[in-house]
Amino acid sequence: MKKKLIIANWKMNPVSEKEAVKLARAEDFSNVVIAPPFPFLSVVGQTIEKAALGSQDIFWEKKGAFTGEVSAGQLKSVGVKYIIIGHSERRMLGETDVTINKKAEAALKEDLRAILCVGEPWSVRKRGIAAAKKFVKNQLQKDLISIKKYKLKTKNLIIAYEPVWAIGAGRADKPAEVVEMAKFIKAVLNFKFTIQNSKILYGGSVIAKNVKAFLNRTEIDGALIGGASLRPKEFRTIATVNI
Ligand code: PGA
Repeated sequence: MKKKLIIANWKMNPVSEKEAVKLARAEDFSNVVIAPPFPFLSVVGQTIEKAALGSQDIFWEKKGAFTGEVSAGQLKSVGVKYIIIGHSERRMLGETDVTINKKAEAALKEDLRAILCVGEPWSVRKRGIAAAKKFVKNQLQKDLISIKKYKLKTKNLIIAYEPVWAIGAGRADKPAEVVEMAKFIKAVLNFKFTIQNSKILYGGSVIAKNVKAFLNRTEIDGALIGGASLRPKEFRTIATVNI
């Protein structure tokens, strides 16, 4: 079976460069993308030999007076290959579908791999999977709206389905429902954007204990790991899981 893609989203962790290097060494597997905070990108990039480097965000302009922002070119220059875009924690801080679309566009134009995060809150999911699908479809349509217009190459587009209520909650979605959502996302991508081969990942409380149940499904191409990516021993089990 094909190796599954595992994204280690460290979020705003760890607290020092020294710890970041230690963690990167422990998570250096060929099917892994490590996404550390911006200040540690360079040193993590220099530490890893097998894993790929990812960033947790991007800005759409190339350079200039945009205090606090980071461009695709700058990220590429330190070895970044993957960009997480539209994570729900960023959406909660005010990121909108409009800015997420600009970021996805910027990443794809620069030949970076864009990991677009979508997923519904509990207020939607409690109404059932159909309501969740409608919510996710709406996000995809808005977040990818300019793809057709600019005829962007979408071979680098990856979708991470991350139900907001499952993130950091210790309560993962059910594999069967994730499979259903993954099929739905593939159908929306195909029908609306004629995108055929995007990887679909799952994220939300994936841990060593439950990872196999997700990754042994052919429809799920990998996992986005938050909390467990800060626990090297557990992360090794996740990254090397036999499926
Ligand atoms: P979690 O985070 O694994 O801690 O639930 C996942 C994510 O935020 O992508």
